Amino acid sequence: MCGIVGYIGYKEAFPVLMNGLRRLEYRGYDSAGCALISQDGKLNVYKAKGKVADLEQEALGQDVSGTLGMSHTRWATHGEPSAVNAHPHISQSGRLALVHNGIIENYVSIRESLIKKGYEFKSETDTEVLVQLIEYIKNTYRTSLLKAVRIALTKVIGAYAIVVVDQDHPHEMVAARKSSPLVIGIGEENKEFFLASDATPIMEYTRKVVYVNDEEVVLMKRGEEIKIVNLANDNVNPEIQQIEADMGVVEKDGYPHFMLKEIFSQPDCVRECMRGRILAKEKRIVLSAIVNHKELLVNASRIIIVACGTSWHAGLIGKQLIEQMCRIPVDVEYASEFRYRNPVINKGDVVIAISQSGETADTLAAIGLARSMGATVFGIVNAVGSSIARATDTGTYIHVGPEIGVASTKAFTGQVTVLTLFALALGREKGTLSREEYEEIVAELYQIPDKMQKVLESASHIEELSKPYTYVRNFIYLGRGFNYPVALEGALKLKEISYIHAEGYPAAEMKHGPIALIDSEMPVVCIALHHQLYQKVLSNIQEVKARNGKIIALVTEGDDTVSKIADSVITIPATLSCLSPLLSCIPLQLLAYYVAVRRGLNVDQPRNLAKSVTVE
Ligand code: M6R
Repeated sequence: MCGIVGYIGYKEAFPVLMNGLRRLEYRGYDSAGCALISQDGKLNVYKAKGKVADLEQEALGQDVSGTLGMSHTRWATHGEPSAVNAHPHISQSGRLALVHNGIIENYVSIRESLIKKGYEFKSETDTEVLVQLIEYIKNTYRTSLLKAVRIALTKVIGAYAIVVVDQDHPHEMVAARKSSPLVIGIGEENKEFFLASDATPIMEYTRKVVYVNDEEVVLMKRGEEIKIVNLANDNVNPEIQQIEADMGVVEKDGYPHFMLKEIFSQPDCVRECMRGRILAKEKRIVLSAIVNHKELLVNASRIIIVACGTSWHAGLIGKQLIEQMCRIPVDVEYASEFRYRNPVINKGDVVIAISQSGETADTLAAIGLARSMGATVFGIVNAVGSSIARATDTGTYIHVGPEIGVASTKAFTGQVTVLTLFALALGREKGTLSREEYEEIVAELYQIPDKMQKVLESASHIEELSKPYTYVRNFIYLGRGFNYPVALEGALKLKEISYIHAEGYPAAEMKHGPIALIDSEMPVVCIALHHQLYQKVLSNIQEVKARNGKIIALVTEGDDTVSKIADSVITIPATLSCLSPLLSCIPLQLLAYYVAVRRGLNVDQPRNLAKSVTVE
């Protein structure tokens, strides 16, 4: 989704801006732009449809001087991707420039009232009303930029992270946020500022950051302390935090794509996620969120999981884990549906919100609704300090490091790992899981990273077997029990990055409709592991075979039944049924990856997709 990078200080801003935009490319975008106030006090704006490289080409040979500037990558919502619709947008006088992430819902009425006052609009965007409104207020009331921005935002309905610069005030920059993330990096001597939609572009310059909160407006002046006010004009003390991050995670480290690097990092990520939480010698799990909220969780009458996309699939696995180990009923809801459904939340219900980015607008709104109805919300989040991490009552970070590839991989296994730890720890607290079962699962979970490593050894085999499927038009994925959500996730991975239509189904449902699709052209990925439903899946595979479908089977090492029927076979090490998704998802990630690469597609930034979906 859209990305913002800004800088005010003593360095040349342009390289900081371009470098930062490249760090944000993973979020997904279709045009880019920047504005700088030059040494001689002129506001220069450059915009281009396409990639950051196109913007650099556009700015080539032009004046890109200046130590104050802002830049933006736009993911189109209102109006097609084009240079005109790209940000920054410029005010009527040409003196103010503004970039915006989010959506202004009442832009039509604001636009109409500004048109009546003589304002003209160049773009189809909702954003342009903001810059015109700020200029109108600034001129009408002869106020500072800070005050004009603050007043304008009280008239706006919607979500925003904005940055505004004014040619007449070349030593200051104003930013604000509501429901769209914004982080400020404090540079040298606290008097140089970096600003971005997430910390990725900032962390190579400084580790000191301030997360801007909803309805806060920030004034950054070169050489002065940062000033923050809320929309009611009360002063807010900036809370400076130290971010810990390894710059290596935002480099490809020799891999051709971030996605492949992230797939291969999963054994280490899961180890990291379990570190300090599994006490291996004592065969015990310690999750501080459970320790701190034991009473509430042990007595929970129902758990509602809210999430979107891949995180929702992790939630479906979480449902089975929690119901099996804790005997608490679990509903798994799409956050986008939950937030508008007037859901029933009873006293004693606990909500779990799952999100990699911690910024997904629908999940954030679902949390707000659940809390307003009295529920305690537990977050399972990757991005440290993100909006969801801060909006929940308690929670557990998955600690897999920034995920750059748009297709989520390591975050999924991190989420499933945390859900497993959660179910185990709570099941033991409740006494619904016997000590023997608990210890057996904990011991096996501890072995999972090594087994993941073994699965990754079959990457070249998966690359080879994927070749005949490069140009097929459809795929079906079948799984049962714990591996039904894995089938959904495998299909989603393929759709997202290869643009091949794919459906995931619980294997037994196939005969209720999708079986009509099966012929010799249809590849069917069947997850047929040695668990209690193996024989049932075997029958489903026979049904596919009888209709000449092409079977790609995922089986347990040593399998000699499905292997004889399938056209291609991928084996994974034996493990417990409840932990098998942590292994079975990996070959499906690799299959999607290799098919997309062979189709020549941009695996890390698939078309139309955004990494953080900060609009609803
Ligand atoms: O950051 P979140 O986990 O909240 O994101 C939710 C979905 O947008 C995300 O999982 C999406 O489906 C991914 N592209 C899947 O690969």
